[in-house]
Amino acid sequence: MQTACRNCGSRKERAEFCNLGYQPLANSYLSRDQLEEPEAFYPLVPTICPDCALIQLPNLAAREDIFEDYAYFSSQSDGWVKHVHDYANKMVGRLGLNENSRILEVASNDGAMLREFRALGVPAVGIEPAKNIARIAQLDGLATIDSFMGVDFAQELLSSGYQGAHLIAANNVMAHVPDLDDFLTGIRMLLAPSGVFTVEFPDAENLVRDNQFDTIYHEHFSYFTKHSAFDALARRGLGVVDSEDIDIHGGSIRLYARPDVRLDLPGEHVQGPAFGQPTAEQRAFYDKPAEYRRELWDKLNRWKREGKKIVGYGAPAKGNTMLNYCGIDAGILDYVVDSTPEKIGKFLPGSRIPIVNPAALALDPDPPDVIVILAWNWQSEISKKLKSHKDRGAIILSRLEEL
Ligand code: TYD
Repeated sequence: MQTACRNCGSRKERAEFCNLGYQPLANSYLSRDQLEEPEAFYPLVPTICPDCALIQLPNLAAREDIFEDYAYFSSQSDGWVKHVHDYANKMVGRLGLNENSRILEVASNDGAMLREFRALGVPAVGIEPAKNIARIAQLDGLATIDSFMGVDFAQELLSSGYQGAHLIAANNVMAHVPDLDDFLTGIRMLLAPSGVFTVEFPDAENLVRDNQFDTIYHEHFSYFTKHSAFDALARRGLGVVDSEDIDIHGGSIRLYARPDVRLDLPGEHVQGPAFGQPTAEQRAFYDKPAEYRRELWDKLNRWKREGKKIVGYGAPAKGNTMLNYCGIDAGILDYVVDSTPEKIGKFLPGSRIPIVNPAALALDPDPPDVIVILAWNWQSEISKKLKSHKDRGAIILSRLEEL
């Protein structure tokens, strides 16, 4: 039996949005010793709610298992650092923030955004449950509380005398939250009456339109569109007052919401005939991943038959969904490169392809004929790094496109 919808609580049966088979947890990179051991595979079958159109996966793993020791570091991405730099500057101007303002960032990671606010003379406090990552920010003198966001946390902070935030930012975290109600209620409790909550998430409309099925993995419990996010916020007393399309992670949305603006229905910024119900495109998504798999296999097999050497660029979680769904292993990709120190020397879950330092690609005595960009959300940043390979005639593939 299916669980209740994570957003609206509906118990109506949810149709399968797509079926990506059985997959390991996408961020469970394997050490060499673990190669000897069996790996756990779980069904990767998101569903869509007929009542609020939230695309979702069940709460498979405990949040503590996934997020207390995490291998993602915001500050290691130049693109992300620029994004939070622009965000902090924009918020200071738009909301008139100053040294007396109270700002919280949920899932502050290693402090990339906190650092930008500090540079502007505005104090910001991070909340980050992954202890290994929170520590990096703390060592840099960036105030970071190591906790999950939720009602318990909000109560604790308020009872210690906290006075309500003028701004709470939550970027790319809502998808990871198993208990949406607890998370958003905690945020509403911590906002000052006229405070602003900004939330950013990859737009699931792009997932559907561009067949970004690889952004689906077990650590992402929910896939929001503007409509379903609006719905989720409105149900918890956060009225959306503005929205922006932002060009990051394959197309994202930023919503601005306030606790003193109650909107139970779509407002000026979020309209559409299909509000609250799955669209025809969402219902037709089911066959899309298999179409992608066929096309990718055609290309890779042809190159393999021609004797070409193929490697991957980036070891993102989404690469694991793609490789495992498409059945691509170390027999096809010799290795993938990734600059994250915690990933180098490990192996991709499922496909067990080795992860090496980007320098190994530069120094490879037998350089690859084809480089597949697995971290396609950083395509422009990565393709600049691959210029010399392109100049010597290597094929650079990003999703199904030869660049
Ligand atoms: P990320 O954007 O976090 O995607 P996901 O959410 O699917 O995991 O991952 C990007 C990965 O790509 C990360 O492991 C770092 C790596 N990367 C490089 O190795 N070099 C680069 O130049 C860039 C931009 C990313």
